[in-house]
Amino acid sequence: MPVESPELTFIRQEKGKLMARTGKPLTLKVFGRHKRDGEKLVVLTAYDLTSALIASAGGVDALLVGDSVGMVVLGHENTLPVTMDDMVHHCQAVARARPQIPIIADMPYGSFHVSAEQTVEHALRLVKQGGAHAVKVEGGQQRTAVIEALIAAEIPVMGHLGLTPQSINRLGGYTVQGRDAATAEQLRQDARLLADLGCFALVLECVPSSLATAVSAEINIPTIGIGAGAGCDGQVLVFHDMLGLFGGLKPKFVKQYAALGELAEAAIAQYAAEVRDGQFPGAEHEYAEQTSPGKVADKKAAEGKSGYLNELEAERD
Ligand code: KIV
Repeated sequence: MPVESPELTFIRQEKGKLMARTGKPLTLKVFGRHKRDGEKLVVLTAYDLTSALIASAGGVDALLVGDSVGMVVLGHENTLPVTMDDMVHHCQAVARARPQIPIIADMPYGSFHVSAEQTVEHALRLVKQGGAHAVKVEGGQQRTAVIEALIAAEIPVMGHLGLTPQSINRLGGYTVQGRDAATAEQLRQDARLLADLGCFALVLECVPSSLATAVSAEINIPTIGIGAGAGCDGQVLVFHDMLGLFGGLKPKFVKQYAALGELAEAAIAQYAAEVRDGQFPGAEHEYAEQTSPGKVADKKAAEGKSGYLNELEAERD
């Protein structure tokens, strides 16, 4: 069994204490509270039950079902092909983890570009079918009408400025944004506008850290940085990137906290070798011809469980 780091134990305990104190799951209010208290916000992407369970157990404040799912899970070259059905499907899987922290769903490319009414219909699917608590929309001033419509429909909105991956064709590549005075000023104006419109938080992606720090001081909603430096009010990373599960693009702003891809590969190689040389399955993984009914019933009763899977587990002993 791997030994848990003291940091992880501390984070778990603090989160546990907070939930115990309030007796409730964390809600989107955590964003405003942390901004007020000067406490950093920690956001991580999640795309399915397993990533949501791991991320929430790790003590993050919120989960983002990012349209990065298109790249790290679905194998697309960029985020543009991601559909509403994809997003609803992955949101549902994350929501089934009942993570007790807010779930924010990305509005995929094309889902908020036609009209405000259609945007609201799409966002409602993410909330009603997907189980999301809020949506994220890329873009600034040009999104005014759709953000107003979403907020009027009681759907909280997270903004996203700087490098907006859905603008890849217009931008001509993944490049740092807001490096010159004019684009920096535009970004500052957009950030103020999104805060005034009522967004609850703002992702700043790939902008100079001095600009992100200035924006964070200027607006009253938290900035969540990715490639935007330590002056932001919080950070977000992509699950697969930080855990070393994704072999594709490795931007400078990603810190890889583990090499799970390599670990998994080694484990799978060992499994393959053990099957081939007859080491796996061992006697401890096999079922006897006849199960003692008393043994299974006792074990089920002791655990207060019932069902088919439990019988398989009970048989292990
Ligand atoms: O889709 C995503 O994962 C994102 C984050 C990188 C902010 O938008």
